[in-house]
Amino acid sequence: MSSSLFRRKNIANIMAEGSDDPHGGGGHSLKRVLTVKDLTFFGIAAILGAGSFSSLGYAVFHGGPGVVILFVITAIACGFTALCYSEFASRIPVAGSAYTYAYASFGELFAWIIGWALIMEYSIGNIYVAYSWSDYFTSLLEKLHVHIPAYLSTSYMEAKHAVEGGSSNAEELAAWNNAPIVGGIRMILDLPALVINFLITYLVYRGIKESRNFSNVMVILKMAVVALIILVGGYLVFANGLTANWMPANDEGVKSFMPNGFSGVMMAVASVFFAYIGFDAVSVLAEESKNPQRDLPKGMMLSLVICTVIYILLTLVLTGAVNYRNFEGVGDPLAFIFEKQNLNVGWMQLFVAVIAVVAMTSVLLVFQMGQPRMWMSMSRDGLMPPVFQKIHPKYKTPSFATIVTGLVVGVPILFTDKTFVLDFTSIATLFAFVLVCGGVLLIPAKEKLHGRFHLPYINGQFIFPLIVIGSMVIAYMLSKNYFTDMFNFDFSGNPDYVSGKKTFMDVATPNISLIIFWICALLLAMASFVKKYSLIPLMGVITCMYLLTGMTKSNWLWFIGWLLLGIMIYFLYGYRKSKLATAA
Ligand code: ALA
Repeated sequence: MSSSLFRRKNIANIMAEGSDDPHGGGGHSLKRVLTVKDLTFFGIAAILGAGSFSSLGYAVFHGGPGVVILFVITAIACGFTALCYSEFASRIPVAGSAYTYAYASFGELFAWIIGWALIMEYSIGNIYVAYSWSDYFTSLLEKLHVHIPAYLSTSYMEAKHAVEGGSSNAEELAAWNNAPIVGGIRMILDLPALVINFLITYLVYRGIKESRNFSNVMVILKMAVVALIILVGGYLVFANGLTANWMPANDEGVKSFMPNGFSGVMMAVASVFFAYIGFDAVSVLAEESKNPQRDLPKGMMLSLVICTVIYILLTLVLTGAVNYRNFEGVGDPLAFIFEKQNLNVGWMQLFVAVIAVVAMTSVLLVFQMGQPRMWMSMSRDGLMPPVFQKIHPKYKTPSFATIVTGLVVGVPILFTDKTFVLDFTSIATLFAFVLVCGGVLLIPAKEKLHGRFHLPYINGQFIFPLIVIGSMVIAYMLSKNYFTDMFNFDFSGNPDYVSGKKTFMDVATPNISLIIFWICALLLAMASFVKKYSLIPLMGVITCMYLLTGMTKSNWLWFIGWLLLGIMIYFLYGYRKSKLATAA
């Protein structure tokens, strides 16, 4: 028995507990039915959704056409991470995703923290998708002349914030003003979001095969419509001579690909990263795939590459078709570009709205399948109550965990809003990615086996420190104030400081996350020099950390609060009940 917080599971034990040896579920294991094509489809099903159909509007409004650069940076970060996931998935092909991998590399406490952070990705992220689904669904019904009252299609918090913030959003104000009041409470809720969550939960409960068939059809449909948007939109950008929109003028009249500078582009980090979330969800299907060691890495990388190409083209079409400033408050940007005042293609508007509903349904499905499977692994390890590993005798799905997932997504739909859940999901997922890539640095080299994925080892001893120092030099050359701005040393423009009314501590607003980033980069460079770490996971850690610097202070505070809650729960339950603690 070990009482260490860093007690690790060894890989052989994890494998033995996989589904080939039915475990804890009354002798019922998951069915192995998925092929590389299915896994790629699952990846795309998870990736292409609310990020491109909804939050892309917010991203281009802040960053302009230059958001393309952020898509490339994020794709690189996700690419490195996917390679690290693949390395783990080929070593430990059982359900559980990053959680299981951390258990083998960092030990139990970190594994729990990752599992806890990923609840954000899988469940809380689905709340954002459900809200976006509801937006498109309601406007689709509107086009078909079916009206749902605003107070039944808006979240309570969104309406409340709109009223408090003096918003001019007619829909949100109508929701607040027209809602029936029962016992002093305004009855405002996003009913379509709740209903779709219920239906998805039911479908996942019924079984993997049915879900897979449903999902494949939806993926084909959404790929087809995205291709059509790119073709029709792209053609019209050139035919209508709109290419000047790619170099729009900013407030000072300067024409630029990044009208609000790189800081404007970085404001879109949460939205852009959200659009990529999903490739990792493929790894939780390890126990349901026919040949996980060969197929999981392929499925992950393929889906990531396909979606990256789509995003870059989609962003170019969007920002070419319409000036970036016009995307303010636009929640359905892919339909918006075809409206009368823009490209004016009526049939595309309706078509896009229908497929958006389909696209988001497939995202919901994948994450709603992933969450119970992760909990099932955590339960097997004793970190969650045994009931989470219960498998339905007939449908062969983790039935109890599926129902709890439905509740974890459904209940907050009543109390949260879109922006909050988007930020929360992105920060937690990036955090988990940093740990996954860091985990690969810690696992020992493995023997090369034919037919299995093997992460190439590139010695990072000299290359990585050179990349870090080179990046610092480039940052300095691009902006001589880059490092001093980071500490906000120049207070000469602050009248309160100059007149002595305020002290240094009152006015200093150092960019803490950027400072921490560079300190970590330097420490990692030193470590890689000494330990000869592998370059690919190093790059995964550093690129994901860089994306984290785009998160706001309030995101960090919420996230840290969430982590502390998780750690408390671990000490109250998992630390004592863990299989590693109770084993003789
Ligand atoms: N990437 C997924 C989406 O955009 C979460 O909906």
